[in-house]
Amino acid sequence: MTTTAVAHPAAAAAFRPAVEAPADIVLELTGTLPQELRGTLYRNGPGQWESGGFYAAHPFDGDGLVSKFVIDEGRVRYQSKYVRTPKFLAEQRGHGDRVRGIYTQAKALRHNAGRMPADCANTHVVYHAERLLALSDAGRPWAIDPDDLTTIGQCTFDGRLPQLTRFSPHPKIDPLTGEMFNFGLDLAPRLAPRVPAGLRCYRVDPGGRIHSEAVVPLDDVVIQHDFAITQNYLVFAIAPIAVDPVHAARALLGFGNTGDTTQFRPELGMKIVLVPRCGGRQRVIECDPLVYVHVNNAYEDGSDIVLDIVRHPSFDLLAVDLKQFRTQQPGLGWPARLRIGPAGRVEVEDIDLQSVEFPVHDERRTGRQYRYSYFSQSGPGFDSAIVKLDNETGEQRAHTFAHGEFPGEPIFVRASTKGAEDDGWLLVVAYLPAEHRTALFVLDAADIEHAPIAVAHLDRHVFPGFHGSFTERVAGPAVL
Ligand SMILES: [Fe+2]
Repeated sequence: MTTTAVAHPAAAAAFRPAVEAPADIVLELTGTLPQELRGTLYRNGPGQWESGGFYAAHPFDGDGLVSKFVIDEGRVRYQSKYVRTPKFLAEQRGHGDRVRGIYTQAKALRHNAGRMPADCANTHVVYHAERLLALSDAGRPWAIDPDDLTTIGQCTFDGRLPQLTRFSPHPKIDPLTGEMFNFGLDLAPRLAPRVPAGLRCYRVDPGGRIHSEAVVPLDDVVIQHDFAITQNYLVFAIAPIAVDPVHAARALLGFGNTGDTTQFRPELGMKIVLVPRCGGRQRVIECDPLVYVHVNNAYEDGSDIVLDIVRHPSFDLLAVDLKQFRTQQPGLGWPARLRIGPAGRVEVEDIDLQSVEFPVHDERRTGRQYRYSYFSQSGPGFDSAIVKLDNETGEQRAHTFAHGEFPGEPIFVRASTKGAEDDGWLLVVAYLPAEHRTALFVLDAADIEHAPIAVAHLDRHVFPGFHGSFTERVAGPAVL
């Protein structure tokens, strides 16, 4: 399978800068919202790529725009604000040409030499323990006011998040314990060679206190975007998407961007590391290298561990294709199930479902055996869709969008605590090129192919974002 990108006229408009909605707006609604659907959907994603002299070479270098959709009393309120990162503020001052991104160089060498890529805070937004956190790979968490989306500042978990450690953008919340698990690339080892390089694992308890649990040692600096939990383990599939040391040294001096120092290097091999949640020896399993970015879920099946991911044919999606984001639509990936046996054998089952990404599930089943996966599907040759995959039967059902429409990641919201696994709704933010605006679609997860239950239309456009989360908490402020 190969990745191909094709011209995508709607892309140019979707990636125009999004304008903040600084106060709540009540959205125009088509259809009727279910009475039981009540809470707040938060979304995060880049919203502007050219600002104050900065011109992003890659979508990952766009400024994070956090949006909230508050669903309450039969209506939807919307608000959005950019995260006030140093990068955003420099652009506001007209100093964007001094900003070094991940794939974007500052204009002058002196603004690249010795500089880490600027944090855009643009990847995910998660609500846990009364904190709303905007997250990305390139930085530490940003605390955001959950009601009015004001940037409070960097979150250090009361000073307990170690310096020089990142906090990755895909934490996992155990639905039974309320604990939030995560990891971050520990940058300290390269400065203090006696400390092994690694992925530092965290547990944030339901009260919001962070605990540093373990370090997964690394032989190379890798790009580890996602992971999974099961009832007893943290599961890391460490693909050899690694930083090339020679290129990295050049980039450190300012010659060449840091993003391009990362390559798929199959000769390094691939490891799956199981970290016991309650402490103890880590188990390391070697397997054939593969390329992936996102994990959907994992669970223990007898003595096996099952890990569901979305594979890609090559690293070109990130390293090549997405650089054409203003005009080209890239091909995406396909789901794969990895079954890790007790003797260390890894079986890989590729699922026949093409051009998908953003895998999600009912988060009541995080870390547990589950039946349904949901994906966003788009790419050359596809009308975009939200696809529901039955992991037991292999059945695929889809809600297809009008040609050219561009749905982002679906978020499943349960209808009740004890209902069936697909008893609920999918909240999908989609860009509608014909109207050059964005809308929130509410789909029935059990009957996904049917017409939307409701659609809430923004009065403006916004890129549908990368990731988001739903909480039953109804965010303020109240409508005046
Ligand atoms: Fe992601």
